[in-house]
Amino acid sequence: MCVVQMRNKKGVSIMETVNYINPTYHDDIKEDVLSGLTASQKFIPSKYFYDARGSDLFEKICCLHEYYPTRTELSILRDVAPSIMHYFTDGDIVELGAGANWKIRTLLDIVPKNKISNLRYIPVDVSEAALEASSEELLRMYPGLNLLGIVADFTRHLEMIPGGRKKLFVFFGSTLGNFKEDESDIFLKSVAGSMGKGDRFLLGIDMLKPRDILERAYNDSSGVTAEFNKNILNVLNRELEADFDLDNFDHRAVFNAEEGRIEMYLQANVDVVAEIGALGLTVELEEGERILTEVCRKFTKGSVDRMAFNAGLNVTKWFSDPKGWFSLVEMESGNKGG
Ligand code: AVI
Repeated sequence: MCVVQMRNKKGVSIMETVNYINPTYHDDIKEDVLSGLTASQKFIPSKYFYDARGSDLFEKICCLHEYYPTRTELSILRDVAPSIMHYFTDGDIVELGAGANWKIRTLLDIVPKNKISNLRYIPVDVSEAALEASSEELLRMYPGLNLLGIVADFTRHLEMIPGGRKKLFVFFGSTLGNFKEDESDIFLKSVAGSMGKGDRFLLGIDMLKPRDILERAYNDSSGVTAEFNKNILNVLNRELEADFDLDNFDHRAVFNAEEGRIEMYLQANVDVVAEIGALGLTVELEEGERILTEVCRKFTKGSVDRMAFNAGLNVTKWFSDPKGWFSLVEMESGNKGG
């Protein structure tokens, strides 16, 4: 565990970083890749996209014209920030999977300067470097803001979030869509379990929409998503002494209407034989065979209501853009469904 503290001029601690990252990353990636690449439908878990290069590429994706979720969510946030922050003048804002700080700034921007010190921002992210860079920027932009950065896997370490203050949990970007159904149920239950009376949870979700809009968002014309997808093989080459040739794979992102999700694959464009040194494993793919790298589930109002209910959460407000492409759902804990 590592704690980084920064002090302001009065010697008051305003930024603290606590690192809970599991030291078993190398065992985890070995186990995950071994089970993924020996399964009948080969897969690599999407969490391995996000090394430094993968995180940079994802930021680029968020700025692409075809990738509507980021700008749509930001536009909703700008509209509804006053009503969200109206009741939240004192307490902790906990951002799960914080990444870049664009979205949280729309909430902090409307807090009067003399009230900002009533808030503590708690970003939770797996990347210590990203978390520190973003935190330092926020402290420069919002003098007096209290900040506790938690370097952790928010699907496993929610219990590390300190209690005792009113909380607004935020989980933006429709990252929930990258979880399998059972994983999102477990995750939502753990969020509900971390919430006290009066706490709120703001969840960003991407809505089901016509195939062409969805497929365009994941097959951008400048090829950034393709680069992001292929970069997962760089991660395996580096972390597991593998020798995948990225040129032997094509990016494929297709909408599966039955499941209501985009599926992202790496498709072999020749017969491939690759060695994964750290696993002592030879992986063979026939030309045309695909490795599943990500699912991006899309939601309906009904599916979100059901998920929330099963997790023990009540939907209190629903905010959408005029086209209904993306939604921010506000919830409180407390129904008996969980
Ligand atoms: C992080 N996540 C919400 C993105 C999504 O849209 O599912 C990841 C992504 N994959 C390709 N483009 C964006």
